[in-house]
Amino acid sequence: MTMRTRTLGSTGPQVSAIGLGCMGMSALYGDADRAESIATIHAALEADVTLLDTGDFYGMGHNEMLIGEALRTAPAARREQALTSVKFGALRDPDGGWSGYDGRPAAVKNFAAYSLQRLGVDHIDVYRIARLDPAVPIEETVGAIAELIEKGYVRHVGLSEVGAETIRRAAATAPVSDLQIEYSLISRGIEDEILPTTRELGISVTAYGVLSRGLISGHFTRDRQLAANDFRAHSPRFQGENLRHNLNLVEALRKIAEQKGVSVAQIAIAWVLSRGAQHNNDIVPLVGARTRERLAESLGALDVTLEPADLAAIEDAVPADAAAGERYPAALMSQVER
Ligand SMILES: NC(=O)c1ccc[n+]([C@@H]2O[C@H](COP(=O)([O-])OP(=O)(O)OC[C@H]3O[C@@H](n4cnc5c(N)ncnc54)[C@H](OP(=O)(O)O)[C@@H]3O)[C@@H](O)[C@H]2O)c1
Repeated sequence: MTMRTRTLGSTGPQVSAIGLGCMGMSALYGDADRAESIATIHAALEADVTLLDTGDFYGMGHNEMLIGEALRTAPAARREQALTSVKFGALRDPDGGWSGYDGRPAAVKNFAAYSLQRLGVDHIDVYRIARLDPAVPIEETVGAIAELIEKGYVRHVGLSEVGAETIRRAAATAPVSDLQIEYSLISRGIEDEILPTTRELGISVTAYGVLSRGLISGHFTRDRQLAANDFRAHSPRFQGENLRHNLNLVEALRKIAEQKGVSVAQIAIAWVLSRGAQHNNDIVPLVGARTRERLAESLGALDVTLEPADLAAIEDAVPADAAAGERYPAALMSQVER
């Protein structure tokens, strides 16, 4: 398979058509196997996946150090192709708690200084605050990233989980390559206002949660035991009756997948890819694979062609507002702009 590439926005870097999100290798989905995580990053680079997404707060630096190790131990040619997309701003406690966001310019530069060290790189390709800091105008946060760009420490400004108004204000401050935001068959909230805004401004979307954190991967089962520190143990969509309802949607998708001879995860990822197809391929899914097996399955989505009849069948099986439960618990939902 030859990896296709996409340009992020009108000013951003050229990246692989699918990016690898590394969060689950360090945090939020229970324990991960370190050696397999590194092998997965290496396999991704080998398959010409160039975009690696992380956050400095994923495992409080653990994820960046893991990526740093994977880059150090990868063949030089692969390492040089890799592009890092880093989120910052989330404030953590030693016990794993979360205590808000810090988007002050001095904090942005401080976060970046540590990220460069942990990743072992001389620049970050796309840098973004994970959530808006309500106490700091976005112009100040983006302005600090622009200063880091001038000094060569960062290449591009990104955004994460912000609404149309913030996107406009950020783009008026500095060129923005992409908005990272949740988008999937069962998380379609960006379609009414946010996606038209990014398209008007020449900004791409790097979509996360394309498998709704595994819920619509076809592998998640009702009886799966989740550790207390697994995000999904507290996510409304994975609870009781909501989970039963949502997994019924997956079974409807499975019928379509089986008819096409592909997996449910591949249908879900291919659907997200298809949503950018008419718009200069402006949607790049970030898949959360943390094993080589899941990575290979995810990349297989690039070979899935969804015909109009397939798309109609998928929409029929999973209508836009079909999911039961919000995508975040209420306290976290209040941090994302809608
Ligand atoms: N900007 C933001 O606010 C934000 C928020 C969340 C994530 N992100 C970024 O987006 C990335 C992806 O997000 P996500 O983790 O929510 O993605 P996701 O791809 O929707 O979910 C990943 C989960 O799906 C499961 N899965 C099952 N089959 C899979 C397959 N074929 N390929 C990949 N995963 C499969 C994994 O399984 P197992 O449990 O079996 O390993 C993993 O737990 C993250 O790593 C992170 O970099 C950004």
